[in-house]
Amino acid sequence: MKKYLTLILAISTLLGQSPLFAQTTGLKDAFKDKFLMGVAVNRYQINQSNNKETDLIISQFNALTAENDMKWMNIHPQENTFNFEQADKLVALADANDMFVVGHTLVWHSQLAPWVFKTANGDTIDNLELTHRIEKHISTIVGKYKGKIDAWDVVNEALAEDGSYRESTFYKISGETFIENAFRFAHEADPEAELYYNDYNLIDADKRDGAIRIINNLKAKNIKIDGIGVQAHWSLEEPSIEDIETAIEMYAETGVKVMFTELDISVLPSPWNSPTADVSVSFENNPDMDPYPNGLPDSVEDQLANRYAEIFKLFNKHSDKIGRVTFWGLHDGLSWKNNFPIRGRTDYTLLFDRELKPKKAFHAVIQTVND
Ligand code: G3I
Repeated sequence: MKKYLTLILAISTLLGQSPLFAQTTGLKDAFKDKFLMGVAVNRYQINQSNNKETDLIISQFNALTAENDMKWMNIHPQENTFNFEQADKLVALADANDMFVVGHTLVWHSQLAPWVFKTANGDTIDNLELTHRIEKHISTIVGKYKGKIDAWDVVNEALAEDGSYRESTFYKISGETFIENAFRFAHEADPEAELYYNDYNLIDADKRDGAIRIINNLKAKNIKIDGIGVQAHWSLEEPSIEDIETAIEMYAETGVKVMFTELDISVLPSPWNSPTADVSVSFENNPDMDPYPNGLPDSVEDQLANRYAEIFKLFNKHSDKIGRVTFWGLHDGLSWKNNFPIRGRTDYTLLFDRELKPKKAFHAVIQTVND
């Protein structure tokens, strides 16, 4: 009996699919010489200690991002009210487990608090007042977590698809100076913290060039920017490995670190020709758009594993340029893609399934380190 068990273990380990070691050979250990491995978490995992999800987070990852709890509407819901409860808990969890913490996100047009652009009598504020409000927001939050939050997504999604500035209310009131100001205020509040510009579709040439323009503008004005956050809400086909590689090289040439900050891979049909992470868009559900409600067929599971493997092979090749790869959610059941761009679907975007078990994609990713 012992002989057979030894044989089975030897074979499955050779195949990179050891049932015993899968959970303990964490992503963070496998990639320790390459880049940080992070995960976005929500309040349910942070609020309960010793649950299985928290255990998995601690054993697999060495970087944490709050999926929602540090966004403006949650952390600064009224002009003179800051709500640090959840952020404090996340920082404590990270501190206890020696994890890198990313603050997400300081200035974003979405998930904002309703008071931000309005005077007491409902008029729209001017540039001076908006600058003042951004400064207070950033200096209070970054200042409070000085030395505890290692890095900030300072500005999120300020670009339109063609690489021009998004016509957000921040932009309409202040023009592009809101970006410069946000980075300046963050640096003043914690000179040691790493500062990033974060956006989706940053592999597409137009938007990539827009992001490079932002990085170069900041650098030309001597404003600190340390990294580009490429969100990486991708599909089985898009973007191509060639385009990802070109983008990594072009971003690295500007002198910043490249972060893949919100990685997930949808296996579901998209109602668009071009994928997006614009949360203001949604579509009706129907059975054709939700083909795997009861489980993923082996063939698609394999496709997902191969896709993840080719992506991580590329990341490993460029690990000198990449600082961190963060998954946008812990397991398939928690992925925002189950509700976007169509609510109530069953997607399979991540490396752990709904029972928290490592998927083929997990083993394929770990295997890339040895290739
Ligand atoms: O907290 C409320 C709850 O009280 C309410 O009952 C429930 C009803 O729908 O909504 C809950 O809020 C939801 C929130 O997530 C927390 O779960 C919102 O509806 C939902 O819209 C929100 O979605 C988040 C989305 O950002 C909103 O902008 C996703 O979880 C989050 O994954 C997503 O993350 C963004 C990144 O920050 C930036 N990049 C794109 C990425 C995906 O959109």
